[in-house]
Amino acid sequence: MGAVEYTVQDYKSPLYLKERKETDLQDINAINTIAFGQPPMTEDTFKRFLDQERVTFLVARDERGRIVAKLTIYIILLDCGGTLQRKAYIEQVATHPKHEGQGLGTKLLKEVELTLHGRLVHTARLTSSKEGAQKFYRKRGWRETSSKVFEFLPHNTTSS
Ligand SMILES: CC(C)(COP(=O)(O)OP(=O)(O)OC[C@H]1O[C@@H](n2cnc3c(N)ncnc32)[C@H](O)[C@@H]1OP(=O)(O)O)[C@@H](O)C(=O)NCCC(=O)NCCS
Repeated sequence: MGAVEYTVQDYKSPLYLKERKETDLQDINAINTIAFGQPPMTEDTFKRFLDQERVTFLVARDERGRIVAKLTIYIILLDCGGTLQRKAYIEQVATHPKHEGQGLGTKLLKEVELTLHGRLVHTARLTSSKEGAQKFYRKRGWRETSSKVFEFLPHNTTSS
C-alpha cells in the first residue's frame, strides 16, 4: 500500500467551499479534544469562529476527505511607531495522533509561510510549551525568542 496523499486547504477559501463535509466539525473536535483537552464546539460556535475576518483556518485532509490536522492563523494590524504592521499569531496546531509523523505538520507550516508572504505579514508568532512541539518548530526555521510567555485570565477567580 502506498503512502496516504494529504491535501492542505484554506477552509474559508471560496475555492474549497464545495469540499466541506458534514464530518468536518466532528473531525476538528476530535483533534482538539485529543491534543488540547478541549470540549467540542457546537455548529454555532464553529460558524462564529469562521466568521471572524482576521482568521485563516488551514486544514489537511486525507484521501477520504477527512480532516486529520489543522491550525489557525490570526492576522492583526499593530501600530509600530507611525506605521501599521501586520502581525500573525499561529494557534492550536495539531495533527490527529493516527497521522502524526507523516509530514502533515510540516505541510501546514509551509502553507503558513505562503499565507504570510501573500498577506505581507511582518512577524509571525506562536507559543509552544511542549518539548516535542518546540523541537518541531525549531527544526522548521522558527526562532525561539523567549520561553517566558505570560498569560492573564481575566475571568479566573481562583488566583490569590
Ligand atoms: C507537533 C505536531 C503538530 C507535529 O505534527 P506532525 O503532523 O506529526 O508533523 P510532521 O510529521 O511534519 O513532523 C513531526 C516531527 O515530530 C516527530 N513526531 C512527533 N510526534 C510523533 C509521533 N507521534 N509519531 C511519529 N513522529 C512524531 C516526527 O518524527 C517529526 O520529527 P522531525 O522533526 O525530526 O522530522 C503534532 O505532533 C501534534 O499535534 N502534537 C500535539 C499537539 C501540539 O503539541 N501542538 C503544538 C501546540 S503549539
